[in-house]
Parts: sequence; C-alpha cells; structure tokens
Amino acid sequence: MGISTHAARPVSYFPVSPVMLFPEVLGDFSVYLWQGGDFVLYTKSGQKFTARHRQVLHANGVKEVYVQSSEKALYELYVERNLGTILLDETLPIDVRSQVFYEASNVVMQDIFDHKLPSAIRAKHFSRVAEIVKNSIRFLAAEKSLAAVAPFISHDYKTYTHCMHVFIYSVAVFQASGMNDTETFECGLGALLHDVGKAKVPRRILNKRGSLTQSEREVIKEHPVHGVSMCAHLPMTQNTINCILFHHEKLDGTGYPAGLKGDTIPLPVRIISMADIYDALTTARPYAEAMPPYEALTLIRHEMREEVDMTIFKRFVAVLSGADMI
Ligand SMILES: [Fe+2]
Repeated sequence: MGISTHAARPVSYFPVSPVMLFPEVLGDFSVYLWQGGDFVLYTKSGQKFTARHRQVLHANGVKEVYVQSSEKALYELYVERNLGTILLDETLPIDVRSQVFYEASNVVMQDIFDHKLPSAIRAKHFSRVAEIVKNSIRFLAAEKSLAAVAPFISHDYKTYTHCMHVFIYSVAVFQASGMNDTETFECGLGALLHDVGKAKVPRRILNKRGSLTQSEREVIKEHPVHGVSMCAHLPMTQNTINCILFHHEKLDGTGYPAGLKGDTIPLPVRIISMADIYDALTTARPYAEAMPPYEALTLIRHEMREEVDMTIFKRFVAVLSGADMI
C-alpha cells in the first residue's frame, strides 16, 4: 500500500473586525472565533449576522473574528456590496461607519499594492477602487466625518495607508473648496491612486534608512510616470491622470516630472500635494519619526512657502482644525 499524497491542506484564516459584520445582512462566508487555542464556528455561511451577535462580541470584548482564507473573495464582495448602504445609514453611529470606511478601503488598497502587480492595475481592482471612492465621498461630505475618521489615521507609514490618508484629507479640502461632485470623484480617485507607481520602485530604495544616492533619487522620481502608465488601459479622465502625474510639482517650478509652475499646476493637484506633504511629515518613515501636526504645519509654512500654495495651506489648516486634528 502506498502512502497517500493527499494530505489535507491546513486551513488558514484571516482576521476581520466585528464592525465589518453588518447587522441583518446575509454573508456567504462563515465566521469563526478564536477560543481555547482553536477556531470555533460562530455564524455559518448564509446566516444573517444579527445585532444580537454583535452585542455578544462586544460584551465579551472580542476585537477580532476570523474568516477562512478560501472565502476571502466572498467576504470582499460582501463588504463592497454593502458599503454604500452602511456608510450612509445614519442609524449607525458615525464612529462605527468611520471604522467600516477605513477597514473597507484598507482591504481594497492592500490588494492593489500587495498584489505583485507591478505592470498594471487590473480592471477589476480599478472598479473596486472607483466604487469605494464614490461611496466614501458621500460619507465624507457629512458633517463631522473627518473628525470621526481621524482616530483611524495611523502614524505608521505604508504606501497604501498613505494613499488613503491623502485621499481623506484631499476630499475634505475639495469639499471645502466647493468642487462639484464629478471633479471631486475624479480627483478623489487620483488622490487615492497618486503613489501607485511606487509599486515599480524597488523596496530597498523605498525603505532605505540612510540618505539616497543621486541615482536612487532619480529612480524614485519616476513613480508618477510609472503610475500613469500602470493606469493607461483604465477608463480614467484627465483630471485623475493629472493628480497621479503632477502631485510632485512645486509652485516655484522645482518639482517633477514636468517642472510646472504656479497656476499651470491644476488646483486639485495642489491640494493633493499639500495633503501628501502633510501626511509624509506626520507619519513615521524608515528615515524619520512622525512629526506632531502643529510642527509639521509650521515647517510647511516656514520652509515650503515658495513650493506650496499658501491659500490652500490656510484652507487645509481650517479643515484640520474644524475636525479637531491639530
Ligand atoms: Fe508621490
């Protein structure tokens, strides 16, 4: 008798915040708890997750539940299908909806950035990002949303979390600038994808601790152009492309890739640049610690006044202080 080669593959699980299990919505995946050193079935696939389930988890201080990795695609589909409804459901507390927004964007962005692309964004990923942008813009437009999302903004740097932060800040300033819905959507998409070209920059350069050599700096400077080429096949408008291509331009013409000056840099792009600089300063990088908000804003005002739009700077400060973020 031969030895069976069909050994059962170990089942793997991934953690999910209980807040992502929406009450009264049917999930096509099973949910497990980690109890006594083992995964224990909590709700079965096809079963509604009720308010009662949520209460029990809350009462027991459960911070994470688990879904089998083989059901990840079903879980993601479930989140996307329900996101719009959940975010706009005013019967749910705003801090719960903020967490849902942050977790859902995290799932999609992580997929885009960690999916060993790096040649192009897949059409299916793009439509998921576009859907997130559409749903979250309506959510972020609500009063107090930025303040409610603020606690989730982490200070550890990852390219995709940085993109989410830049998106959140930029959309808040777009809305404070009275931009219309179409432009807010197109430029919000650009903000969320602005650094996607970094997927083509070798990690050893991106995460280098010491100062960069001239040639390493040149490699990093290619990321806006890489970003646009990765999106070339997608249904994107010029507004979105401009945000990806020009977010490192500076008012005094010393930026890249085109060396554009002043008003030739489109307004939404100047807003994204401001958010980009602010988030870079206030999150920890391999080569620098996170700066407190007030210090970061002082540095921008004193040392970058030739490079950034100071009218937008003032609007940015007003938006942050309105959300108690300074
Ligand atoms: Fe960038």
